[in-house]
Amino acid sequence: MTKKYYIETYGCQMNVADSEIVASILGEAGYEPVTDIRLADLILVNTCSIRENAEQRVWGRLDLFRSEKKKRPRVVVGVLGCMAERLKERLLESDKMVDLVVGPDAYRDLPLLLETASSGHSAVNVLLSREETYADISPVRLESNGVSAFISIMRGCNNMCAYCVVPYVRGAERSRDPGTIVREARDIFAQGYREVTLLGQNVNSYSWTGNAFNLNPDPSTAEDEDSVSRSAIAGKNDTVVMLHDPEVNNMQNIGFPELLEKVASIDPLLRVRFSTSHPKDLSDDLLKVMAKHDNICRHIHLPVQSGSSTVLARMNRKYTREWYLGRIAAINSILPGCSLSTDIIAGFCGETEEEHQETLSLMRTVGFDFAYMFKYSERPDTRAARLMKDDVPERVKTRRLNEIIALQNELSASSKKADIGKIVRVLTEGKAKKPAGAMMGRTSGNKVVVFQADSIRPGDYVDVIVTRSTSATLIGNLVQ
Ligand code: SAH
Ligand code: SF4
Ligand code: F3S
Repeated sequence: MTKKYYIETYGCQMNVADSEIVASILGEAGYEPVTDIRLADLILVNTCSIRENAEQRVWGRLDLFRSEKKKRPRVVVGVLGCMAERLKERLLESDKMVDLVVGPDAYRDLPLLLETASSGHSAVNVLLSREETYADISPVRLESNGVSAFISIMRGCNNMCAYCVVPYVRGAERSRDPGTIVREARDIFAQGYREVTLLGQNVNSYSWTGNAFNLNPDPSTAEDEDSVSRSAIAGKNDTVVMLHDPEVNNMQNIGFPELLEKVASIDPLLRVRFSTSHPKDLSDDLLKVMAKHDNICRHIHLPVQSGSSTVLARMNRKYTREWYLGRIAAINSILPGCSLSTDIIAGFCGETEEEHQETLSLMRTVGFDFAYMFKYSERPDTRAARLMKDDVPERVKTRRLNEIIALQNELSASSKKADIGKIVRVLTEGKAKKPAGAMMGRTSGNKVVVFQADSIRPGDYVDVIVTRSTSATLIGNLVQ
């Protein structure tokens, strides 16, 4: 009988993409997915450490999984992802809360670890790798709408922003073989997908050096692929499995603009998005590539974190308020009408009232279409935790965050209102939650559009005239 697994995913899009890698590895090992934990032989939770409350949610879920295990002792419970590295001792010791702990670079080891866990022993691999990119693994799209897919183009991060746990839990930055990225994008387009989002913690620093072809001159033999995979687990080998792509082979140095152009050239009907761009590395070359290809979406997510140069310096973001505004000016001039979204942290160490006001004023100046907004949450071992005081009182953090959210709500509403009367091109994703019978999709600028339609299917492009808006959604009618 095939074994069944249940997987729950927390955190960013990269974790979603990683769960799809895990699904592929488990599928090869004879497991099939289920959506009801009562049917699962294996329960997995892919975790996030970015803020304290992200971890709290996972502990809550683990309590529930443990009660399932009490009922059915043979069930294996496993923790994957970003909490694994940091919390392996606590996870395994606290009353044997879990059987299996696997870090983000060790998923190839899952089949072996599962054998160990099934025999009643704790199984752990939280080693971080300098090479692993899972380049050769075709993800199994788990909760896909059949229209949009994520493709990881790199892993880890070298930036060391003072507040951030990612470099510690995901390790050093490494870029994936461009040939495998283009091939994956081409495959999913052939399967009917119409949108890919290229993912990395800082996509602008994507860099593939070396001759992909020479790295593995004969990738067609299965034996070679196996040996490369195995040595990647051992962490001894700096090669990555290369799958032939004649257009990409032999290129010496591919940066993000070149990669983006390759993917955009697959087909004009394939929309291409990317996330995340670090402001310090956003180049005019990238903006020019975007301007050249209509199917590269007119949306840039450019996390600012704070509008104050002194806070940015304490955060080790390596840019100033002026630099950031300069990048926004470049976007507005090279890509007029491009949507802008951002991430903002309220109440970072030592943040004064004036510094907070600078964040509000920057938000007004840029007029973001959308933002993710957070209260600063100290993460153990980060530079901020080691060297700075988390000294903004909780009620002040809350008040500042509320001010940021209130302002963003106004900005989001006016950005949507400005679209009333316009005809927008929408990629249909599926049925809208409401009203009944309506469909939803997104504009190139990543705005959600709800419209009435009978014979429109997910994946169809339609033109919609916008008649109304809320702060989150455009509402309109099909243009015949
Ligand atoms: N690599 C991306 C961000 C990844 S984390 C980038 O550099 O833009 C996503 C967001 O979580 C960050 O942009 C930041 O706004 C927020 N974040 C990260 N660490 C945090 C912390 N300790 N407390 C609060 N928010 C945090
Ligand atoms: Fe974290 Fe900074 Fe890296 Fe983003 S760029 S993942 S915020 S360290
Ligand atoms: Fe969270 Fe890890 Fe992503 S910490 S935000 S899941 S990289």
